[in-house]
Amino acid sequence: MKISVIGTGYVGTVSAACFAELGHEVICVDVDRSKIDMINSGIPPIHEEGLPELLKKHAGKKLSATSDYGLAIMNSEVSFICVGTPSDSEGNIDVGIVKAASSSLGDSLRKKKGYHVIVVKSTVVPETTEKIVLPIIEKHSGKHQGEFGIAMNPEFLREGRAVHDFMHPDKIVVGSLDKKSGDIVASLYNGLKCEVTRTNPRTAEMIKYVNNAFLATKISFANEVGNICKELGIDTYEVMSAVGKDFRIGPHFLNSGAGFGGSCFPKDVKALIGKAKEIGYEPQLLKSVIAINEGQPARMVLLLKNKLGSLEGKNIAVLGLAFKNDTDDIRESRSIPVIKELLDEGARVSAYDPMANENMKKLYSGIGYYSSAADALRGAEACLIMTEWDEFRSLNKEFDVMENRLVIDGRHILVKPGKDIEYVGLCW
Ligand code: UDX
Repeated sequence: MKISVIGTGYVGTVSAACFAELGHEVICVDVDRSKIDMINSGIPPIHEEGLPELLKKHAGKKLSATSDYGLAIMNSEVSFICVGTPSDSEGNIDVGIVKAASSSLGDSLRKKKGYHVIVVKSTVVPETTEKIVLPIIEKHSGKHQGEFGIAMNPEFLREGRAVHDFMHPDKIVVGSLDKKSGDIVASLYNGLKCEVTRTNPRTAEMIKYVNNAFLATKISFANEVGNICKELGIDTYEVMSAVGKDFRIGPHFLNSGAGFGGSCFPKDVKALIGKAKEIGYEPQLLKSVIAINEGQPARMVLLLKNKLGSLEGKNIAVLGLAFKNDTDDIRESRSIPVIKELLDEGARVSAYDPMANENMKKLYSGIGYYSSAADALRGAEACLIMTEWDEFRSLNKEFDVMENRLVIDGRHILVKPGKDIEYVGLCW
């Protein structure tokens, strides 16, 4: 089939490349010229495992990019809206970019003859597709739903594993108002070994939020249990590994630590809270999930102060800046509030991340950045581990260059800290 993908962010680019891999002809649309040029030359605009290979294979053949909506709509049968849905200042969803993309799609649809399906892939709160996207497209195209199709098809991709997750999904959800458009969208995934869950758009929208909110809840639950276990001298990892054996619970997302970050969990839980409040419901559990998550970084600094006293003028190494391992993304990373608090307390910060130094420099230019853990640790009076990078697992001799060998682990990552190390776990 011929597909256009609006927005070449992380979801758009990965989806476009993977649809090309599934045999479809794909045109990406973006307002950013530099991203278009990169895609057309087979270079990914984002870091994502497996993406360089797919772009190299398909760019200029099954995959192209343009800034021309009209051209893309004329040359495709299905359009995916994959633009960003950032949070506003209150944490509620900002659908401004989705609205702009819908207007442009509608304008182009006006000139097009033949059936076309518009699919929302961006993460949007329930009712957005039906009450915001659909009316805008009807207004701008002069056509009614039925003359064109509308569907909602959320993504469940993890950053760093997005290509793998797209090609090996554990669920595909297609919400549509009519059978015809749903059938077309579902057929795009033929070739993947996965059942397609068919539903209406608002349920599809809700599934995405509930999925993320549930995983975030598991983490905050594990963190609350971990905080209690630490006080009682109980190993929470032993507790959770036994609890996770109950098949109704499962072992995943029970790792307590510095909390969750990234572009999805914090934003999506807050957006769901915003939507619940809009309909007059006070979502206490979800509010607690966020509150527990926001408390974890401060607990790291508290443990540090319990050991060192005042942090004024002290050199503290921060290992790990990305919100999780295998990405350079620092959005909502738990290291951000930790660095802020360290600086507020008058500490000097020496930071190291295998991929995210450059991104963190844009936020904190005044701290020291190093190209290895050992370099960041030199002369430090304590070290905080903030990200679950594999290379931190085997740190041992590197701690020898510290002034004072105190390690506070926020990710339960150090396997053998070494005998001379004072090792403190955040929740264990
Ligand atoms: C998440 C969802 O997994 C994905 O399905 C959705 O589409 C987008 O959001 P992502 O943000 O890429 O994906 O990262 P993920 O690997 O899920 O981790 C999120 C955060 O939770 C990270 O900061 C990670 O460190 C933290 N985490 C994860 C824990 O603290 N404990 C855990 O047990 C698991």
